Amino acid sequence: MILVTGGAGFIGSNFILDWFSQSNEPVINLDKLTYAGNLQNLAITAGDERHVFVKGDIGDSALVTKLLAEHRPRAIINFAAESHVDRSILGPEAFIQTNIVGTFRLLEAAHAYWRTLNEAEKKDFRFLHVSTDEVYGSLTEHEPAFTEMHRYQPSSPYSASKASSDHLVNAYHRTFGLPTLITNCSNNYGPYQFPEKLIPLMIVNALAGRSLPIYGDGRQVRDWLYVADHCSALRRVLKAGEAGETYNIGGWNEKPNIEIVHTVCGLLREMTGGPATGDYLDLITHVRDRPGHDTRYAIDARKIERELDWRPGETFETGIRKTVRWYLDNQDWVASIQTGAYRDWIEKNYIQQRQ
Ligand code: NAD
Ligand code: TYD
Repeated sequence: MILVTGGAGFIGSNFILDWFSQSNEPVINLDKLTYAGNLQNLAITAGDERHVFVKGDIGDSALVTKLLAEHRPRAIINFAAESHVDRSILGPEAFIQTNIVGTFRLLEAAHAYWRTLNEAEKKDFRFLHVSTDEVYGSLTEHEPAFTEMHRYQPSSPYSASKASSDHLVNAYHRTFGLPTLITNCSNNYGPYQFPEKLIPLMIVNALAGRSLPIYGDGRQVRDWLYVADHCSALRRVLKAGEAGETYNIGGWNEKPNIEIVHTVCGLLREMTGGPATGDYLDLITHVRDRPGHDTRYAIDARKIERELDWRPGETFETGIRKTVRWYLDNQDWVASIQTGAYRDWIEKNYIQQRQ
């Protein structure tokens, strides 16, 4: 079996659903269920013996050690993290605790467990750390996309904490021989993404007739990948990646934020017939920019394409259409996660910070 951490979050839950569509190998899912963890995402696995959910913290060494000894996984896939840049600006502490200290403790427990394996098991074991392109910092308009050799130059407390965790993972490979893999992926979008990130926030706000807040001029560029494509890349890296290596994951899909919001509004208009009066585009509001806002991310995905023969299955046009459709069809899911914590966050980020 495999141990997945953070499997109740956006990418982790998509990964587990995708895993069960391809394999009968059981998954232990260790998740702390922070505001971003939502077991409803995995409701379809209720009663499925392949999914063992454990509520807990990757930083809880005793718990992780016990789980590893009991279940003896052949791999750990670490999704668990605090993942939202704006939250890291308002309160970085949790990012340091989970992304750095938590990953360190998980590595310690994994290393101790790995040393108890026989030689064949040791060789086959993998610690796959799911990371982000944000560790590389910001590109100017014409600079080449990030390769795996690009210098780490993180800008936000979030990306700095992910960069630190990547360094720790590499250190456990170099120093102790732990068979690690790191993936640095571009911005994901798709079903089950918490509506604090750009694309789901825009869909949910537009449907509710609320403003669509664009940070600064909206010319910042992100490189977008449909979440199912990230999941297929992770499966491929787990299966065929070389221990100690890093793989960038992306779909060559750079778009300015303002263009994303226009596309979302256009699809919503097409699928709903538009709001009662005016147009979704009328809701666009430019608000104060994010401090330290990275101008551009772009992933050079040639290594994973060449060495592991991986390619994305969706174009941006097909992926964004599926995503808007999913949010329209799953408004109950959106309603149910709009808890007090989510509303408090909106108040703190948009009402107190950006006026
Ligand atoms: P998310 O915020 O939706 O989910 C994170 C999950 O981790 C939640 O279920 C949460 O409950 C859990 N968690 C948080 N702290 C924990 C702890 N201490 N112990 C156990 N569980 C904990 O995040 P996501 O968007 O699904 O991202 C998953 C991973 O992928 C992160 O490591 C992130 O850095 C990376 N990543 C995300 C993107 C993206 O666009 N979302 C892109 C590239 C890489
Ligand atoms: P986000 O989804 O937070 O991802 P990241 O910061 O990790 O790339 O933001 C994507 C882009 O959209 C980023 O440039 C910030 C911008 N943005 C807005 O303009 N308005 C918003 O309300 C949010 C959440 C993001």
